[in-house]
Amino acid sequence: MKNILTIDGPSGVGKGTVARAMAHKLNWHLLDSGAIYRAFALAVDIAGADIKDEKTLVKIAQTLNLEFKTEQGGELVSVFLEGRDISKILRVEQTAEMASKIATIAVVRSALLKRQQDFAQAPGLVADGRDMGTEVFPDASFKVFLTASAQERAQRRLRQLQNQGSTGIISQILADVVERDKRDYSRKNSPLRAAQDALIIDTTELSIDEVIAQVGELVC
Ligand code: DC
Repeated sequence: MKNILTIDGPSGVGKGTVARAMAHKLNWHLLDSGAIYRAFALAVDIAGADIKDEKTLVKIAQTLNLEFKTEQGGELVSVFLEGRDISKILRVEQTAEMASKIATIAVVRSALLKRQQDFAQAPGLVADGRDMGTEVFPDASFKVFLTASAQERAQRRLRQLQNQGSTGIISQILADVVERDKRDYSRKNSPLRAAQDALIIDTTELSIDEVIAQVGELVC
């Protein structure tokens, strides 16, 4: 299927917001691949598995009972693991950390590949992640890579926490962003990088509406 828009980039850059808006606008399905890695990391944690035990990791990936409940337009609403709503715990920083670490393991990435590719259904798919344009959907017709300075991404994360009625310390958030960047960019397996044919948008000075408008121009 060619009707695929991939949106890759580092954590906190606004991929999720842009992907949701584009899926809604185009009336295409949505794949939040980070949610799959996060849910998998939680499943491994719940099972008490050793992350060095690759055989067990593959088994957990292959039998992962994961369900996305979506609303019209393909917007992600809730994620269920073994029937349990994990949407809230999925978003905490500790889960992101676990996901970032476990996502470096090659057998994990290949065990989760088909599950991600299965999201490509008519009329189209918007896929957000780290390797959507490079590894998961290399033939996608539309590819975007979003960037922003680490400082700006940390500020955005702080604002998001505050909007959720929570709080955070900017220096700690920035340290987490830098640490996760390091791991995501430098890992051996499917490192975070822009596909050669991706449109690169530096969003540091742009509003979310300006980013959505630029992505919209590429697709429409
Ligand atoms: O996008 P996110 O923050 O929800 O992703 C959490 C972690 O999962 C991220 O730090 C790296 C990993 N990930 C990945 O390796 N490949 C993807 N396509 C998506 C996420």
